[in-house]
Amino acid sequence: MTDARQGLSGLLDTEAIRKDFPILGRTVHDGKKIVYLDSAATSQKPRQVLDALNEYYERHNANVHRGVYTIAEEATALYEGARDKVAAFINAPSRNEVIFTKNASESLNLVANMLGWADEPYRVDSDTEIVTTEMEHHSNIVPWQLLSQRTGAKLKWFGITDDGRLDLSNIDEIITEKTKIVTFTLVSNIMGTINPVEQIIRRAQQVGALVCIDASQAAPHMVLDVQALQADFVAFTGHKMVGPTGIGVLWGRQELLEDLPPFLGGGEMIETVSMHSSTYAPAPYKFEAGTPPIAQAVGLGAAVDYLSAIGMENIHRHEQAITEYAVKRLLEVPDLRIIGPSTAVDRGATISFTLGDIHPHDVGQVLDEQGIAVRVGHHCARPVCLRYGIPATTRASFYLYSTPAEVDALVDGLEHVRNFFG
Ligand code: ALA
Repeated sequence: MTDARQGLSGLLDTEAIRKDFPILGRTVHDGKKIVYLDSAATSQKPRQVLDALNEYYERHNANVHRGVYTIAEEATALYEGARDKVAAFINAPSRNEVIFTKNASESLNLVANMLGWADEPYRVDSDTEIVTTEMEHHSNIVPWQLLSQRTGAKLKWFGITDDGRLDLSNIDEIITEKTKIVTFTLVSNIMGTINPVEQIIRRAQQVGALVCIDASQAAPHMVLDVQALQADFVAFTGHKMVGPTGIGVLWGRQELLEDLPPFLGGGEMIETVSMHSSTYAPAPYKFEAGTPPIAQAVGLGAAVDYLSAIGMENIHRHEQAITEYAVKRLLEVPDLRIIGPSTAVDRGATISFTLGDIHPHDVGQVLDEQGIAVRVGHHCARPVCLRYGIPATTRASFYLYSTPAEVDALVDGLEHVRNFFG
């Protein structure tokens, strides 16, 4: 054990937790134990989630909201039960505010399209402005560019400071009386920055703008209370929070969901249909056209149970300890530059860095040979790389199963990379 590891407090019992994640016992490259440091891309899944998926398909599989037979009723109860679990997990005032989508991108596209097709007072048109940030994942940039192109609305954004924080110094010029929607990430997927939600929401509320939060990198790692956040929409995805792929969530305030138009049309989302027109089911069904991701929702429900049993405060505390240790150790590596906050304050468990002039793809490849899995590239947040004048970063991201020993393995691995490239 390195000296720095002594005194770390707030860690979870990772030995027990890791037993729940079969993949973490895997080896690669002739027996190298896998060191999985890419949970910001997707988390690993515990046995409890895998079992829930299997059990669903082996015992209850049927379409939902349609059948009158036993297993169809069971499938419906499981699907709707997952909605209840998610609603409780995010402290939603009503289960009807929880819309299941296929991922956070779809959730954010759904908001953009609801507003794009809305009537007054929500309508986005050439007299209005949309505000986002330079720190967003592409999924919270491109849908708004598309909306801006379609409607003529002006797209504006907050820049980033040298140390990876949002530059809010010009907040009153960016968010104005013309702003219809302010949309931003709670936690940066590339730099780990935790953004000052309250300050942004306060200004948005002053001008009557709606607020949409991308919580994809927050929901897995900290308490997400949509009532405390006071946003209008919150989007996140299941696969980053130990759930399966193919399931995302959009939470929206009930009155907005009632007022705003649907985006996708089809089965399930209607009340009546004639050849001339249709009326729509109430929310959330109005926004869930077609057969929904049933098994995936059930898996997400199991993921929520799993995380809740450990406790989101405990998970956050664990990650803070790991991150503090990781920042400290990484800064000991010669030529390593952290892209983003280089302190452990107000940041999540995701750390991007460059290593001298070694290309991140080379870093990633040499680390992989040692069993260490990190993500390299622009992380679907290319404007951040442009901001810092770099083509890409290496990104290590931690989760509830990450250990200080894995941080040490990364640091040793980076020494190896440096030696390898002379
Ligand atoms: N959004 C995922 C990431 O940041 C894929 O890696």
